[in-house]
Amino acid sequence: MTNGSIHNKPELAQYDTNGQLRHLVGIGGLTAAQITRILDTADGFNTAPGTAPTKVPLLRGHTICNLFFENSTRTRTTFELAAQRLSADVVNFDVGTSSRTKGEHDLDTLYTLQAMGATLFCVRHPDDGAADYFARHVAPGVSVINAGDGTNAHPTQALLDVYTIRAHHPDFHNLRVALVGDVRHSRVARSTIAALQALGATDIRVVGPNAFLPHDVDQLGVSTTTDFAAGVDGADIIMGLRIQRERIQGSILEDENDYHRHYGLTANNLAHAKPDAHIMHPGPINRAVEIDADIAYGPNSLILEQVRNGIAVRMAIMALIAGGRTPNDTT
Ligand code: CP
Repeated sequence: MTNGSIHNKPELAQYDTNGQLRHLVGIGGLTAAQITRILDTADGFNTAPGTAPTKVPLLRGHTICNLFFENSTRTRTTFELAAQRLSADVVNFDVGTSSRTKGEHDLDTLYTLQAMGATLFCVRHPDDGAADYFARHVAPGVSVINAGDGTNAHPTQALLDVYTIRAHHPDFHNLRVALVGDVRHSRVARSTIAALQALGATDIRVVGPNAFLPHDVDQLGVSTTTDFAAGVDGADIIMGLRIQRERIQGSILEDENDYHRHYGLTANNLAHAKPDAHIMHPGPINRAVEIDADIAYGPNSLILEQVRNGIAVRMAIMALIAGGRTPNDTT
């Protein structure tokens, strides 16, 4: 679909010459100050659990389209809630019942929705580079937010991850993070590592069997280990990652029970971690594979806080992209 590699292209400008966020396709290239501005903006939209959500007229008259070519629960729904709370009109495009099933090209789908007045697309796609590709093809004044593309990037997840971490561990320079599981096929891991590093984190460990270590792990600036106990030792944050079965051809693990025994976030395995280590997971979780339910919903878990924070962080990104524009300003 994307007509070629995301590589060998000049980097897409995510900010315009006035410093205004135009697209968000990846974390790469964002500075600590730019990330911090997004997180601080999210703070202004967040409300305490159990209190009424913030609703503001910032994007009244704007049309936001959730264009998801791949399934989602958290990301699509929180983008929808975020847009509603900014008072935008929201279109949740249903790929499964669309004319794509008749052979329409993804770009023609985008142009069609753009002709209806959508000026901000939240795009999820199974192909690496899809969001970048769409961002290069939209009309001037139309923006693209990457809601996850292949194994490449999931920048809004990374931003909600660091937002959640910041609330509990504001000093990123002294933070110890262990990412456990299928890092090789995880777009979340790549983006979250980049966001952590941009904010100053240096102690990031990738923990899992060799089959789940990324091929380019030497270039990621992280340490690696196949030893769970060593990987989580002293970690402040332990983030489990789902086995991305939909991106794995054939069988990569000989025995999932064996994987659960060695690498699962279980009470038994976490006895090697600090008692107050926080547990995170981008979701969806595979219960009894990479994490047990009592850990996912236990006292140290931040998983549902991550979900909740997704609304404020996505509100912040949309507000920073479109908040200063008039709805019909496509220049
Ligand atoms: N974390 C995440 O992307 O979850 P969904 O696939 O449910 O959106």
